[in-house]
Amino acid sequence: MRKVAVVGIGHGKFGVRSDASLRELAFEAVKACLDDAGIPLKEVDSMVTGIAGDEFALGLQPSAQVHDYIGFHPKPNFRVEGACATGSIALRTGIMNVASGLADVVLVVGVEKMTEVPTSIATEIMGKAGDSIWEYPFGTTFPGYYALIANAHMAEYGTTEEQLAMVSVKNHYYGSLNPYAHMQKKITLEKALTSFTVAYPLKLYDCSLITDGAAAVIIASEERAKVISKKPVWIVGAGLATDTLRLGDRKSLTSILAAREAAKTAYKMAGVGPSDIDVATVHDCFTIAEIVAYEDLGFCEKGEGGKLIAAKETYVGGRIPVNVDGGLKSKGHPIGATGVSMAIEITKQLRGEAGERQVKNPEIGLAHNVGGTGQVVAVHIFRRE
Ligand SMILES: CC(C)(COP(=O)(O)OP(=O)(O)OC[C@H]1O[C@@H](n2cnc3c(N)ncnc32)[C@H](O)[C@@H]1OP(=O)(O)O)[C@@H](O)C(=O)NCCC(=O)NCCS
Repeated sequence: MRKVAVVGIGHGKFGVRSDASLRELAFEAVKACLDDAGIPLKEVDSMVTGIAGDEFALGLQPSAQVHDYIGFHPKPNFRVEGACATGSIALRTGIMNVASGLADVVLVVGVEKMTEVPTSIATEIMGKAGDSIWEYPFGTTFPGYYALIANAHMAEYGTTEEQLAMVSVKNHYYGSLNPYAHMQKKITLEKALTSFTVAYPLKLYDCSLITDGAAAVIIASEERAKVISKKPVWIVGAGLATDTLRLGDRKSLTSILAAREAAKTAYKMAGVGPSDIDVATVHDCFTIAEIVAYEDLGFCEKGEGGKLIAAKETYVGGRIPVNVDGGLKSKGHPIGATGVSMAIEITKQLRGEAGERQVKNPEIGLAHNVGGTGQVVAVHIFRRE
C-alpha cells in the first residue's frame, strides 16, 4: 500500500444556508480546499463525493450536481453513502484510490442540505436509516434510538443526565470558538438540563443540529504530497466495521461493536493505542454517543465515560481533548459532510492551525464517525511528520 497524506482542507460555513444550493455549498468547500492546497483543479485526478440522502438532495445522483458545478468532467467522480458515516467512508474510498495507485491526487467532498424540509420530515428521512421493515415503520427516530442507548447506559453504569449535559456544555463552548460552527454560543449546565425533552432522557441540548454544509479535503500519494504541501498530515490508520441493521439484534446497547472493531483495525494499522492519541473528534450525534465513544475507543474503561467528562478530561488541557471544534452538537451535523469535517479539524490541530481551540503540540489525532445506530463505523488515525 502506498502512503497517503492530507494536503488540502476546505470548510464551508455550517448552518441554515438558505443562501446556497447543494452544489454551491460543495463549491464553497472545494474552492477553499484548492486554495489551501495551492493547486488548480486540473491537478486532481479523481473525486469522491459523500452525500447521505437522496431525499434531502431532492433527486437521484446528487454527486453529479457537484462535479458538474465545479467543472470536474471528464475525470472520475462517484458517490458513496453510509448514513452519518458517509463523509468518512468517502475519505476511506479516496484513500483506497491513492493507496492502490489508481490515482495520485484525490478530492473528497462531503455535503448535505438538510434544512429545505421541516424537522418532522428530516426526522422521518433520518429514521429510514434504521431497519426498513422492523424499525422505521413502527415510528422509530434517531432521538428515540439514542434515548434507548442513554437509558441503558444510565441503568447499567449510573451515568447521569448532568453528565450528558456536561458533554453539551463542552461542545457548545468549543463551537463558540469555531467560526464555521452552526451554533456559536456558550450554554450553561442549567440551560442544557432545563431544555425541553425530545426523547427521555435526551433534551434539546443533548441533540445534534439539523444543518446545511460542506467540507472537502485533498489527499495525495507520498511523492505528490511532498511537492504540494509543506505540512502533509499522514493517514496512518483506517478502520471500517459493520454491525446488525436492527438495534434490537445487538448483544449490548451500551457499546457500539462496529466502533470497537473499526478502532481495533485503525490502532493496529497505525501501530498506536488509545493512550497515544493527542486529540480526537468523535460522533456526538447525541451527548450519550460521545460518552459511549470514549469507552469504545479505549479513552476510558467501559462505564466510565460519564466520569471522564465530569473530570473535564476531554477539554483542551485534559488527558484526551475531544470535539474541540464543537462536535456535531454545536458545529452541526450536515450528514454527508460530517466525516470530512472531522478530518479537517484533526488536520488543523496537527498543523497547529486551530487558533483558540489548539491542543498543545499534538502529534497523533483520531476521527470516529458512526453511521446510523452503529450499522457502519469508520475510524481514521492521522499523524504529523
Ligand atoms: C432536537 C430537534 C428535534 C429540534 O428541532 P426543532 O424542535 O424543530 O427545533 P427548531 O428548528 O424549531 O428550533 C427551535 C429553537 O431551538 C434551536 N435548536 C434547534 N435544534 C437544536 C439543537 N439540536 N440544539 C440546540 N438548539 C437547537 C433553534 O436554533 C431554535 O432556537 P431559536 O428559537 O432561538 O431560534 C432537532 O434539532 C433534531 O432532530 N436533532 C437531531 C438530528 C438527528 O437526529 N441527526 C442524526 C443523528 S444520527
